[in-house]
Amino acid sequence: MKITAAITAVGGYVPETVLTNFDLEKMVDTTDEWIRTRTGVEERHILREEGKATSDLAVAAILPMLAKKGIDPLEIDVIICGTVTGDYIFPATANIIADKIGAKNAWGFDLSAACSGFLFSLETASKFIASGVYKKIIVVGADKMSAIVDYTDRNTCIIFGDGAGCVLLEPNTDGLGIQDSILKVDGSGRNYLIQHAGGSMNPPTHETIDNKQHFVYQEGKTVFKFAVTNMADVSYEIMERNQLTSDDVNWLVPHQANLRIIDATAERMGLDKSKVLVNIQKYGNTTSGTLPLCLYDFEKQFKKGDNLILSTFGGGFTWGSIYLKWAYDPNEG
Ligand code: UT7
Repeated sequence: MKITAAITAVGGYVPETVLTNFDLEKMVDTTDEWIRTRTGVEERHILREEGKATSDLAVAAILPMLAKKGIDPLEIDVIICGTVTGDYIFPATANIIADKIGAKNAWGFDLSAACSGFLFSLETASKFIASGVYKKIIVVGADKMSAIVDYTDRNTCIIFGDGAGCVLLEPNTDGLGIQDSILKVDGSGRNYLIQHAGGSMNPPTHETIDNKQHFVYQEGKTVFKFAVTNMADVSYEIMERNQLTSDDVNWLVPHQANLRIIDATAERMGLDKSKVLVNIQKYGNTTSGTLPLCLYDFEKQFKKGDNLILSTFGGGFTWGSIYLKWAYDPNEG
């Protein structure tokens, strides 16, 4: 009997503090109108509390998910955390999450793939489940982007927000769950979206701080060009490879970086707007958090057997698509 990996529960969390476009108008030379029309973002959430980090966002998403599903954290086998804003360079945030939720029987690790962090983690976890060795895996995408965003740089501060989303992955023998994936990296694009200092290339010094190299740097226009082409292409490719027409696809779950990138992807797939999940206006780009936060926000609309395509593009460059069959009905999860 073939084992596939199915999402059996979802969770999400964004911190309380809201940073609106109007707030940003007072911080940098920008306007609400520019941000809305160029990106689709209206507001984003920021984790302001002292002593709170990415693991706290993840825990706030995971614990209600486990409680709703009636699962004891001791049952969890593995935790994979997609993030580029781990609590520390090391140890891994997955370890801290395991400690904070009491998942004493789990092992885990962080996966660094920028905005594709959740998708790459989901693929990794799905292969662990398909192996038959692991039965319950938490995949979480969490980023406290406000920790690495320069709030005097209008090229980046208008886009990003903080948040986390998670799923529980379990084995399925009815053919539901993850069906196919196409994932890609191109490291030659690394300089267009990067945190220059803090790693082994440029260890932190007074100079790197003075030069603001510990913040996210993005050459927006170039990233946009690659994102719009690659996310659309890979989403189309996974449809073709699985003989899915636009009628067969129930939902596109796209990375929320820019509404114009999402629209271009939907158009290439021939999808009606009603099938495209968008919450960028509320959260901005939460990096690893966007896809699971979308699943969380729209969970009630999915029906068992629905065909979902998850697509992403991010720094690195990293990008890809996963095709999955939703495994439960609303209110059943
Ligand atoms: O999630 C990971 C992957 N990341 C992405 O996918 C992000 C991809 N990039 C983007 O979403 C867009 O490139 C941005 C939203 C970052 C920028 O939008 P854009 O349409 O590419 O703007 P641009 O950089 O080409 O700038 C157009 C104009 C420029 O002025 P001039 O030279 O035409 O006079 C900029 O100086 O808009 C100006 N501008 C702004 N104006 C007001 C740039 N940023 C702002 C701003 N407010 N925040």
